[in-house]
Amino acid sequence: MEPLKQENRVFNPPADFVKGAAIPGMDAYNKLCAEANSDYNGFWGRLAKENIYWKKPFTKVLDESKAPFYKWFEDGTTNASYNCLDRQVEAGLGDKTAIIFEADDGTVTKVTYKEMLERVCKMANALRKMGVKSGDSVIIYMAMTIEGIVAMQACARIGAIHSVVFGGFSAQALRDRIMDVGAVAVITADGQYRGGKALPLKAICDEALSTGECPKVKHVIVSKRTGTDINMQAGRDVWMQEIVANEATTCEPEWVSAEHPLFILYTSGSTGKPKGVQHSTGGYLLWAILTMKWTFDIKPNDVFWCTADIGWVTGHSYITYGPLAVGATEIVFEGVPTYPNAGRFWDMIQKHKASIFYTAPTAIRSLIKASSNDESVHPKSYDLSSLRLLGSVGEPINPEAWMWYYENVGGSRCPIADTFWQTETGGHMISPLPGATPMIPGSCTLPLPGIQAAIVDEAGVDVPNGQGGILVVKRPWPSMIRTIWNDPDRFVKSYFPEELGGTLYLAGDGAIRNKDTGYFTITGRIDDVLNVSGHRMGTMEIESCLVANPLVAEAAVVGRPDELTGEAICVFVVLKGGRPTGEDAKKVATELRNWVGKEIGPIAKPKDVRFGDNLPKTRSGKIMRRLLRVIAKGEEVTQDTSTLENPHILEQLKESL
Ligand code: PRX
Repeated sequence: MEPLKQENRVFNPPADFVKGAAIPGMDAYNKLCAEANSDYNGFWGRLAKENIYWKKPFTKVLDESKAPFYKWFEDGTTNASYNCLDRQVEAGLGDKTAIIFEADDGTVTKVTYKEMLERVCKMANALRKMGVKSGDSVIIYMAMTIEGIVAMQACARIGAIHSVVFGGFSAQALRDRIMDVGAVAVITADGQYRGGKALPLKAICDEALSTGECPKVKHVIVSKRTGTDINMQAGRDVWMQEIVANEATTCEPEWVSAEHPLFILYTSGSTGKPKGVQHSTGGYLLWAILTMKWTFDIKPNDVFWCTADIGWVTGHSYITYGPLAVGATEIVFEGVPTYPNAGRFWDMIQKHKASIFYTAPTAIRSLIKASSNDESVHPKSYDLSSLRLLGSVGEPINPEAWMWYYENVGGSRCPIADTFWQTETGGHMISPLPGATPMIPGSCTLPLPGIQAAIVDEAGVDVPNGQGGILVVKRPWPSMIRTIWNDPDRFVKSYFPEELGGTLYLAGDGAIRNKDTGYFTITGRIDDVLNVSGHRMGTMEIESCLVANPLVAEAAVVGRPDELTGEAICVFVVLKGGRPTGEDAKKVATELRNWVGKEIGPIAKPKDVRFGDNLPKTRSGKIMRRLLRVIAKGEEVTQDTSTLENPHILEQLKESL
């Protein structure tokens, strides 16, 4: 499978889909875009009024006086949890299923909107009783469970700022985030089930808190999931199920300004330290709702399934907030796509009659591979006729994977929304609209109405269609990142760099627009960020981790294309004790891989480790990463190496273990 093979076939939205769609046809799309162009504030103000319950209505839409610290709907007050739950119950949807939870072992639990509201209220009351207040931050380190969503919603209800840490991150990564965000409480679980195994969470949390560097954490709330034996520290640790048991099932929400931070989510940037991306309440929620309606065309009878984890932004916008805020029924899945076998996704779509399915290209590619020689786990062995719409997220979907998804999962009748967006953007930015946009595999097509995406050169000047460049957004939009927690300077420098004029939002991706259609195709990151299985990893983060190992003198990390994971992590290492060979080299490579796995998390484990006496450097001492990228790909170095101080080193680094 070639990652970016050209595909020019056009796939039009099916006629019966167009008929009932929220945005039916390109005329309707163009009309919305025109409305935004002619009266930007009026457009967003109208949508915010129509889609959100405001306790106190806002009087001003956008405040640009402190740009790029934009404020949206700031004097309006609202509450995210109220909008997701109370509003549905009040509209008569109390008995509608909000969540169909399927556990790793296949056990199914259904929760109605009324039950969800009661559970969230109980948890919110318990948090308040512990002294957690509006504006406090709370770390959530849980897996995919109903309790995880309850914990997030409960924080939102009382105005506490949640920061979810993916359950696969290490104690060190968890500690860094607890410290940076200044958490007063951590909500976790005894353990999590994945692929038939019980994995620890609380024990990792204990390790994170063991160094005494997180004195602000007064409470650790533990949800019982696996029943694993764990330590409970008296005075600090409590069971979630116990503290909610006697709480009231109602809880007055904290009415907060639309600009009140709803959550902080850490993501990798081009320097070592992960960035705490801060999102707002009102603007974020508005876009979660609108994209559910526009991109996913959500309807009352849909069964929506986003396979992401709540530890990533996709899980925030399209599991915890978006689907509930539009009163949908959604599937929440604890397990992994390959357990008990690689037919799990198809089996679940068939069983729960999912109508909208949203997943990542990596998952699709691995399921293509698994079903290529096993009919029984091939989508055609299942009844997937309930599906009407598919989505893709996290990385470019290569045309071959797109075609397979379209034909085998969608039965050639379901549009595919290839949604380009980021942790920082809060929701979809560029995507086909299923009832409007003709699709071309491998292209995320056109920006959503109101999103002023463009491609510019290194001076911030627009480039003509057909010429690649830097992807930017020209105007602020409601769900954009508000700042980097504790680091406003880094926010300005990272996203509104002076080189581009200081007003363009820099996404960090390269892109190109088609000469004829104007369609966008994302060509990949232009900074030192890798995308491995749709997970964002900073090369510097992995490098700092490697050099912290006592054996390592120097390390350089680059990405290389990988058939399954999109990109793979390749590291070049210089050891203090000299270059190892043979069995020794293999042993150290394994040790370093495990080290990264332990320090950051298994998702950061390098695929390829290579050793040299040195790294290729210019005479001024700069590591030539562009050469390392060529070597990692297994290609011949054809570039000029005359500026290299040590060209012979390249031969050593070609040796893969
Ligand atoms: O490089 C782009 C890629 O994922 C990056 C954002 O990663 P993250 O913040 O972790 O959010 C992932 C889920 C929204 C982007 O800068 N990316 C995401 N979606 C696509 C994509 N690249 C191409 N096509 C997409 N549909």
